[in-house]
Amino acid sequence: MGFDQYHEPPEELPQTTRTFARLCASLTEEAEAIGWYEQRIAVETDPEAVAVMRDAVGEEYKHFSMDLEFLLRRTPVWRQIAQGVLFKSGDIVAHGEEAEEEATEGGDSDSGGATDGTSSLGIGSLRGALA
Ligand SMILES: [Fe+2]
Repeated sequence: MGFDQYHEPPEELPQTTRTFARLCASLTEEAEAIGWYEQRIAVETDPEAVAVMRDAVGEEYKHFSMDLEFLLRRTPVWRQIAQGVLFKSGDIVAHGEEAEEEATEGGDSDSGGATDGTSSLGIGSLRGALA
């Protein structure tokens, strides 16, 4: 296990940022696993093997969802944008654009920061840069 999730010296990062980075790495790994199972299931011809892999990918869906929820709870602007996109019918891109604009242009100045009292994630500073 390397330390690839860090782009800054880990010893300079606050604990909350290191935890956040770990969960981002975990989210990526769960998404990769879901993609790999999708490919394996698509080519497997043994129905019993397919059943085993379908069961396994369900675990990865759960892991991905838990990682995502953790990250969203700690990043209000991300949560707000996700709420504007997820579980809605219609145009995904239009929902995304609308949710991003609302989250980055319509909120108060503190809406994008981390909930741990730090500004280490700096997401709120993206306002204007995303327009
Ligand atoms: Fe997993």
